[in-house]
Amino acid sequence: MAGMMRRSLDAFCITFWITVFLAAISSATPIEPRSNAIQELWSSVRTLVFPPTNRCKVYPGDPEWPSDDVWMKLNKATDNRLLVKPQPQASVCYSGPFYNAEKCAEITPVWGSSYTHIHDPIEMMSPVAQGMTCLPPNVFDSHNCSRGGFPMYVINATEPKHVQLGVDFARKTGVRLVVKNTGHDFLGKSGGKDSLSIWTHHFKQIDYIEKFEDKKLGYSGPAFKAGVGVQAFEIYKAAHEKGRTVVGGEGETVGIFGGYIQGGGHSPLTSLYGTGADQVLSFDVVTADGKFVTANSTSHPDLFWAMRGGGGSTFGVATSVTVKAHPEMTTTASRFSFTSKDIGNETFWAGVRTYVDYFIPNADAGTYAYFLLLPNVATGIFTFSMSPFFAPNKTLEQTQTLLQPWFTRLNDLGITFDPNITQFDSYYEAWRSSFPLEVVEKINATTGSRMFPRANFETEAKREELYQNLRKSSENNRVQVHFNIKAVDPANADNAVNPAWRPNILFAQQAVRWPVNATAAQILKIRQDFQTGDMQRWRDISPGAGSYLAEADRLEPNFGQAFWGTKYARLLRLKTKWDPQDVFFATTSVGSERWKVESVDGLPNENGKLCRVR
Ligand SMILES: Cc1cc2nc3c(=O)[nH]c(=O)nc-3n(C[C@H](O)[C@H](O)[C@H](O)COP(=O)(O)OP(=O)(O)OC[C@H]3O[C@@H](n4cnc5c(N)ncnc54)[C@H](O)[C@@H]3O)c2cc1C
Ligand SMILES: *[C@@H]1O[C@H](CO)[C@@H](O)[C@H](O)[C@H]1NC(C)=O
Ligand SMILES: *[C@@H]1O[C@H](CO)[C@@H](O)[C@H](O)[C@H]1NC(C)=O
Ligand SMILES: *[C@@H]1O[C@H](CO)[C@@H](O)[C@H](O)[C@H]1NC(C)=O
Ligand SMILES: *[C@@H]1O[C@H](CO)[C@@H](O)[C@H](O)[C@H]1NC(C)=O
Ligand SMILES: *[C@@H]1O[C@H](CO)[C@@H](O)[C@H](O)[C@H]1NC(C)=O
Ligand SMILES: *[C@@H]1O[C@H](CO)[C@@H](O)[C@H](O)[C@H]1NC(C)=O
Ligand SMILES: *[C@@H]1O[C@H](CO)[C@@H](O)[C@H](O)[C@H]1NC(C)=O
Ligand SMILES: *[C@@H]1O[C@H](CO)[C@@H](O)[C@H](O)[C@H]1NC(C)=O
Repeated sequence: MAGMMRRSLDAFCITFWITVFLAAISSATPIEPRSNAIQELWSSVRTLVFPPTNRCKVYPGDPEWPSDDVWMKLNKATDNRLLVKPQPQASVCYSGPFYNAEKCAEITPVWGSSYTHIHDPIEMMSPVAQGMTCLPPNVFDSHNCSRGGFPMYVINATEPKHVQLGVDFARKTGVRLVVKNTGHDFLGKSGGKDSLSIWTHHFKQIDYIEKFEDKKLGYSGPAFKAGVGVQAFEIYKAAHEKGRTVVGGEGETVGIFGGYIQGGGHSPLTSLYGTGADQVLSFDVVTADGKFVTANSTSHPDLFWAMRGGGGSTFGVATSVTVKAHPEMTTTASRFSFTSKDIGNETFWAGVRTYVDYFIPNADAGTYAYFLLLPNVATGIFTFSMSPFFAPNKTLEQTQTLLQPWFTRLNDLGITFDPNITQFDSYYEAWRSSFPLEVVEKINATTGSRMFPRANFETEAKREELYQNLRKSSENNRVQVHFNIKAVDPANADNAVNPAWRPNILFAQQAVRWPVNATAAQILKIRQDFQTGDMQRWRDISPGAGSYLAEADRLEPNFGQAFWGTKYARLLRLKTKWDPQDVFFATTSVGSERWKVESVDGLPNENGKLCRVR
């Protein structure tokens, strides 16, 4: 009681002096008139001083946690765009005030589709990282539904002003801030228990720029300026309509201008044009001090450097991004598969082995191959699935010529398959008909990744070693997803993209799985063994290489080296410069080693308080 009175007395004094101060500066300098709602918000927030010595960010139950009244003032200041305690979608499946059997029956069968979640303010495509506290019971029964690693308040932002208010609010109050675009990040970096989220999904504007010139970057040509909420299917369509393409991911609903582009981003066009981040000409960004700035080659060039590859939710919140546009082009694609069922293990693996010989020439030819190696413990059958082999700027004949030497060797081994090679008039049509719709990640799996450089494929002995390591992972029951690509950089951009991308020839992912009923301790053990076992084998044969920050395991050891290599030291300095108070945080982001999510079950997920590591 005494404490409460003390605080309101402090509140009075602080408010008084702030009012005097504001009056003083507003008479001195002509500052932008601020709405009453914003003034009211800040005069109440100033009372909630967040001591930097606090171990954790501010949470419900803490004396510093903003009152409902303050949250309502934030709502007013953001043009009534604050979503208060949005419920997990699957709350309709659990007894309680949101139960709705009909709606539950509607969402359960389509839960896996990324479109089910596309307009949801909090949903993450990585339930394991959320904490698995509310999924349809047919998918995973959590017995009751709680918010877990989802945020508590969400600003449904449509203007930079809304983003600025969210950033200022989090900085002043000490409430944890998260940024969510689509929620596709494998590590669940758009979540955070009891946090305030800035949801960027509705920044959807796309503008075509006929001629963008930047002498310093050495670029003169067409460009697109896109809001950060624009997704792959939207920008590809808009580009196609102008006879253009842009570098984006394969998945339909991946957010191209949020986490993807800031994290590097690989693409079916990466063997031709480099990573997503290599395309960036300019960012509009709200920085940790709440300012709205341009980051380009001449305006805050160090921020521009860091945001091209340094990772999302670290240096600022982008609201729009300008990227290079490339010409539309003929593209050829092919999907095919074979299994060990009729040919046996040795022939199957001999077939996979022959393919490894073509990784370098195929990447150098500008192609992209997305292929899977699938084990099946129950049947003992392995599957190789090319889905697809993708050849931008190549005709059917050119693609056939490229693939023929490998196909001949497969046929010589007695491996039969039916490669449907199809030529499309455009990248857009080829992309639309070649890639599977991405799905929500598994509830009992996690993925680790490695960028195997050219050195792993340059000699017969090295290719054999690499192949043996892929085979071993299959025999250990790892689902493998591979990308045979190289990340050229024609403009030789100096940016924060993981240097391990440059010599990459095979970007490789493998997933570890555990029984759905495993205890937290069992899951942790399985995940740690995966890191010291199958993942360590991959690291051991590719010393100094790296992993891709958006498709990786939260337990990746020494993540600074793995995600940024030698660039990590500079990135850490820039983090301290641009966000000295750690307003932004995401697991495994630059500077995140200073903090830890203390999850309630001890597993690596967002369901817990964010606290300093001491
Ligand atoms: C099925 C599937 C397919 C995929 N395909 C590809 C692919 O082909 N190539 C590829 O490279 N990756 C791919 N990814 C990975 C994808 O790049 C990452 O998931 C990426 O993080 C998605 O960015 P997002 O903004 O959509 O997602 P989110 O999960 O919403 O955000 C990712 C991170 O970026 C931050 N962030 C988002 N927007 C902003 C912003 N405006 N300002 C600052 N920080 C921001 C978030 O806080 C979070 O930390 C795929 C993922 C899935 C699930
Ligand atoms: C929800 O379920 C979990 C796990 O079964 C249990 O520990 C918890 O007490 C339940 N919470 C409520 C509010 O019923
Ligand atoms: C978020 O804002 C957009 C744009 O105003 C609106 O269409 C959408 O319905 C809002 N979403 C939610 C969940 O309120
Ligand atoms: C970079 O941004 C600044 C500030 O907005 C602007 O004046 C300048 O023209 C931009 N540079 C380029 C090359 O567009
Ligand atoms: C192939 O290998 C798998 C796993 O190593 C094994 O389970 C299976 O029995 C083998 N199949 C044959 C036909 O030897
Ligand atoms: C696409 O092919 C044309 C004709 O062969 C060639 O001139 C052009 O450089 C190629 N584009 C790229 C990006 O490789
Ligand atoms: C080959 O693939 C194309 C494009 O996906 C499809 O339209 C065509 O029907 C396929 N042909 C055969 C014989 O399956
Ligand atoms: C993972 O869960 C799925 C059900 O979602 C189940 O079919 C599969 O067997 C589980 N994997 C393991 C290794 O138990
Ligand atoms: C999980 O289920 C399997 C098979 O039903 C059982 O053998 C195992 O003991 C269970 N594990 C736990 C931790 O309950």
